[in-house]
Amino acid sequence: MKVVKDFSNLEEKEAYSISSLAGLSAETADHMIENVIGAIPIPLGIATNFYVNSKDYLVPMAIEEPSVVAAASNAAKMARKHGGFKTSNTGPIMIGQIQTVRVLNPHRARLEILAQKDELLRKANEQDPKLVSVGGGAKDLEVKVIDTPRGKMVISELIVDCRDAMGANAVNTMAEAIAPQIEKIARGKVFLRIISNLATRRLVRSTATFDKEMLGGDEVAEGILDAYAFADTDPYRCATHNKGIMNGVIAVALAVGQDTRALEAGAHSYASRTGRYRSLTTYERDSEGNVVGTIEMPMAVGLIGGASAVHPVAKACVRILGVKSASELGEVIASVGLAQNFAALRALSSEGIQRGHMKLHARNVAASAGASGELVDLVAQKMVEERKIRFDRAQELIAQFSK
Ligand code: MEV
Repeated sequence: MKVVKDFSNLEEKEAYSISSLAGLSAETADHMIENVIGAIPIPLGIATNFYVNSKDYLVPMAIEEPSVVAAASNAAKMARKHGGFKTSNTGPIMIGQIQTVRVLNPHRARLEILAQKDELLRKANEQDPKLVSVGGGAKDLEVKVIDTPRGKMVISELIVDCRDAMGANAVNTMAEAIAPQIEKIARGKVFLRIISNLATRRLVRSTATFDKEMLGGDEVAEGILDAYAFADTDPYRCATHNKGIMNGVIAVALAVGQDTRALEAGAHSYASRTGRYRSLTTYERDSEGNVVGTIEMPMAVGLIGGASAVHPVAKACVRILGVKSASELGEVIASVGLAQNFAALRALSSEGIQRGHMKLHARNVAASAGASGELVDLVAQKMVEERKIRFDRAQELIAQFSK
């Protein structure tokens, strides 16, 4: 820590905030990753009003961006009036890929690998008796031949039921274990043995009806449908639209110690599965004019193994959320993603997002300019009124109000 502090000219206060490790002991952090020097605290908020499959949830969200928690809570309230969120999932199935190259007869090799499927599955399942004992494990093996700039490759795909684990460790271990046998059968060379984050067999779905009056009436409802059509047609808009979904998804996932990069990779590759980058949500209107939203996306999350079982704050967040299985966790996360997206489209279709954002932004600017206590709100409010949300103006106002 001292070396980093000296190198970067960190102030005492900054160094302390990195190394104080409020929610995470140095020892735990050190077990989690390498070259640990500290931890970076992210604000942790609670989204309210989430009613999913007739159950109430308080949803922890870890995020540095203002407005996100409030927007999700507000959208969830509009869904609550019509029964909240209804969800489903395809089961916790992940895919492990084994790449074989330099195969003389790739199509024949494919059949030869498939002919040994039972033996390969047995070998894979030997790696994780615990997972098998709870009903999970390698369930199937599929093999495809792909044409690449480096010639044909034989890709074997292990289909693994991961139950309540995210599954990367289990799947990668199984893929590595059966690779030598596959190499022998195919008479080629195996290189990669790794999980796929395009988790098309681990989808979660959620739907909700957002109340027409609460959302602002017909005009705003039509604006939401137009915003959805814009995103689903134009990838430049869609990137931002799906980013809004991930504001909710990642904030919850981070709070409960999930692999957020795997979720991002899965979401965006799934959004591109038709060959065009499209929306992960859909919007329609029902016979009463309410807006009916849906979301479907891959959700590789787990409660066993990984940070959610080690990080004290993540563990506490799982307890706050009260989920009992990985699938339940995934379904709640998808519901938050839908709510977040709906809230963004609604704001964009009406007053725009800057007004709400600016109020919160002004508080940040006031605080960073040195305001504390009541002064934060006083200075922020004045800057919003003046439409001058700037560091220098905050400093002037602090001086003025402190006289
Ligand atoms: C900002 O973090 C997210 C939004 O840009 C999402 C969207 O445009 O749909 C508001």
